[in-house]
Amino acid sequence: SFLKMGKEPIRVLVTGAAGQIGYALVPMIARGVMLGPDQPIILHLLDIEPAAEALEGVKMELIDSAFPLLEGVVATTDVIKACEGVDIAIMVGGFPRKEGMERKEVMSKNTSIYKAQASALEQHAAENCKILVVANPANTNALILKEFAPSIPEKNITCLTQLDHNRALGQISERLNVPVRDVKNVIIWGNHSSTQYPDVNHATVITSNGKKPVRELIADDYWLNSQFIATVQQRGAAIIKARKLSSALSAAGAACDHIRNWVFGTPKGTWVSMGVCSDGSYGIQPGLIYSFPVTCQNGEWSIVQGLKINEFSREKMDETAKELAEEKELAYSCLKDQANG
Ligand code: NAD
Ligand code: LMR
Repeated sequence: SFLKMGKEPIRVLVTGAAGQIGYALVPMIARGVMLGPDQPIILHLLDIEPAAEALEGVKMELIDSAFPLLEGVVATTDVIKACEGVDIAIMVGGFPRKEGMERKEVMSKNTSIYKAQASALEQHAAENCKILVVANPANTNALILKEFAPSIPEKNITCLTQLDHNRALGQISERLNVPVRDVKNVIIWGNHSSTQYPDVNHATVITSNGKKPVRELIADDYWLNSQFIATVQQRGAAIIKARKLSSALSAAGAACDHIRNWVFGTPKGTWVSMGVCSDGSYGIQPGLIYSFPVTCQNGEWSIVQGLKINEFSREKMDETAKELAEEKELAYSCLKDQANG
């Protein structure tokens, strides 16, 4: 396990490392935000030729930061060199959407990257490498990576919905004016897209009078069933509108949260959301990369079982699953068009 590796450095790959998420993420990793304050790191940074000089600049700044945990930086445009021996791969490389686009509009450009990088990871990453796909469309890129790297165990391939999970926690915290750390067990079901279903039916808040259901503390059903859901679904677009760039510091922070939870485990009684390969739980088509509530222990995630699903939730969970099945079709048709020139 990762924990047994002790003081041996862990090799962490960040693709798209010269981009904006990369710029926020690599210092977090080098400071121990992802793997803790005692774990030495070797960073592998990959980008493409047009960004090679900028990537070199990032490497210079990492050296200039004199991070005590950082034992080396491999900055390269060679995907094989980048993947060599990595224990964790954070796949950020790709193209972000612009204002007015849906995330799946970057499908054709980005899925072809994931098809190509699947084999590099399969052949050159460390055995049992944990992979987190961040680049959009995140679930479908992870699906393509899984299907084109059949020897990587499915359980090692995930996509990021922790950002949506954190956004949901943040909205509840703001509404109730309580610290965000006291809000627990929201769920993001499905796709990291505007059809995702942020579900508060099992969420709780720790109060001075004990743990209370969010539905008891917020009696406003209109807000919970409509405004809250729309705000979380549309938060990525709202950030793009405000910044003219997509989210970066919150995405980087969520990527650290995702890996930290996966490697070190989730606290007792709480779960997080992760895009993982469906095993048919909650009636979701097996094989899709779908966001579920998961707990983690000993470096492995498992889907939280037995949650009661009402009719409202059922409909929303199926709607986002349907979009993922359609995205899968679309991804394969894009890859086929590219193969045919
Ligand atoms: P960016 O354009 O600033 O950076 C992306 C970097 O990837 C660029 O430096 C680019 O040169 C590089 N790149 C392109 N093709 C590559 C390849 N084949 N191999 C390696 N690197 C490659 O974009 P960003 O704002 O950092 O966002 C990156 C991706 O993450 C986008 O797809 C964005 O939509 C997505 N995103 C996802 C989430 C999430 O929660 N899942 C959150 C925010 C952003
Ligand atoms: C986000 O959720 O912020 C990212 O997926 C970027 C985007 O395009 O919305």
